[in-house]
This record gives sequence, structure tokens and C-alpha cells, in this order.
Amino acid sequence: MNDLEASRRVILSGKGLTKYFGGLAALLNVDFELYEGEILGLIGPNGAGKTTLFHLVAGAYKPTRGRIEFRGEDITGLRPDVVCKKGIARTFQITRPFLEMTTLENVMVGSYFGSFARAPLRECQAKSEEILSLVGLQDRRDVPASQLTLVERKMLEFARALATQPSVLLLDEVIAGLNPTEILQVTELIKRIRQEGMTIFMIEHVMKAVMDVSDRVIVLHHGQKIADGDPEVVVANPEVIEAYLGGTMHAQAT
Ligand SMILES: Nc1ncnc2c1ncn2[C@@H]1O[C@H](COP(=O)(O)OP(=O)(O)O)[C@@H](O)[C@H]1O
Ligand SMILES: [Mg+2]
Repeated sequence: MNDLEASRRVILSGKGLTKYFGGLAALLNVDFELYEGEILGLIGPNGAGKTTLFHLVAGAYKPTRGRIEFRGEDITGLRPDVVCKKGIARTFQITRPFLEMTTLENVMVGSYFGSFARAPLRECQAKSEEILSLVGLQDRRDVPASQLTLVERKMLEFARALATQPSVLLLDEVIAGLNPTEILQVTELIKRIRQEGMTIFMIEHVMKAVMDVSDRVIVLHHGQKIADGDPEVVVANPEVIEAYLGGTMHAQAT
């Protein structure tokens, strides 16, 4: 840990996180710490347990063992809506907007579920429009979500999460399937959101994007944490390279 990290506050942490599905340990004794204001990348091959870790944090699954703390409070096993109201929002690997609703309405639903709940409708709409501008969807506000392109849906997914007014944002492969220009658009947005004070924990498969945007990276392999640290150092770690099919990650990262 460097001096900067030591001086920062841990906002979210997991200790000994373990999740079994039948006999399979999707996660085994994973410890992690997320510092306030950082962008932490979570990487690892398919099936490594990345999404499972987010499910545990967000309350979609209860851990078999282990403990999750948010701002020093034990939040292990709390329901997803409770976790969300406390200030942890997530996007899903597979986007799932309400297709018949407009872009704006989808964002407004997000604001109803979050810590902004019970605000007057007009206030809620104004906030949602502001968020649509931030993600660049203001011109698409009245279009049904079913008519959005892939990148627009990803941006909507972002907007819905932001509408809950979180302090921590969990991003699950938000740039998967996008072209390089679109990836740049999303990574710029992530950096902008962080500048405004958000703490970001992001799962990503596209190595270059993770390297560009993350302050620190955690690597999972077969449910276990095999590396945690500076992106440049982690990507050169032989165990990490081995986990990614004998060096293809290194090629992708450069
Ligand atoms: N609901 C579930 N039931 C059974 N097995 C699951 C379930 N969710 C995930 N798994 C298994 O747990 C492992 C980790 O999955 P996941 O967390 O989705 O990996 P990643 O997101 O890193 O690709 C995989 O072997 C996957 O098949
Ligand atoms: Mg996943």
C-alpha cells in the first residue's frame, strides 16, 4: 500500500468472502478493500467469480461465509433495495432497461429506488434530465429504450445507476461489445464521474481500458484473489499472465 492509499478511507470492504453454488466455490476467502474516491478494477478470466462478488456486495446473493462492510457498517446479506438506498449502485453485465418506457422514464425509475426516493416528481425529473445530459443521452430522452443502440443502452444503464445517487458505483463489463471510439466515450465518462466524487469498482474484460482507467487492480482466478495492486505491476505478474491463457492478456494490454 502506498502513502496515498494509507491516508485514504476504506469505504467498502469484504473479508473472507466465500460463495458456494452446490459443490462449486465461485468465490473462496476473498478479501478486498475499496478506498474512497478510487477507481478499482476487477479482472480475471471468464468464470473467475467477478460477477458473483458484485452480487454479494449488492445483496443479490448471500455469501456462504464472510463479511461485507460499507462505511464501517456490516451490510452482509442485506436486501438489494436496502443496499442501494445506503448508496451502492450497480450496472448489469446484460443491460435490462424497461423496453417500452422512454429513456427518461427509465432513469426516473432509478431515482425512485435510490436515496433520492420520495423527492417530488418534478425534482426527480429534473435530476434525471441532468444525468441524461451527463451521459450524452439528452437527445434520446423521449425514445423508447427498445430503440436505443448498444452503446446508448450501456449509457442508460449508467444513468439509471447514477440516478440512485450512489457514493459507490459497481460497473459490470460496461464496455464489453463496444468499438474503440465508444469505449473511449465510456472511459471518459467514468473518469468524469470519479472527478465528481464517485468511488468506482469496475469489472472489465478489455485490458487496455482497465489499465487506462484504474488506480488499482484486483485479479480473481477460480474464485480466489491472486493479485492486488498497481495495474502495471499486476499485469506483469506471472501468475496473472498464466491465468489469462499463457500470456494473451499481456498482448492485449500493450
Ligand atoms: N447462480 C449460479 N448458480 C450456479 N453457478 C453459478 C451461478 N452464478 C455463477 N455460477 C458459477 O460461478 C462461477 C463464477 O461465475 P461468475 O461470477 O459469473 O464469473 P465471472 O463474472 O468472473 O465470469 C462460474 O463457474 C459460474 O458458472
Ligand atoms: Mg461476469
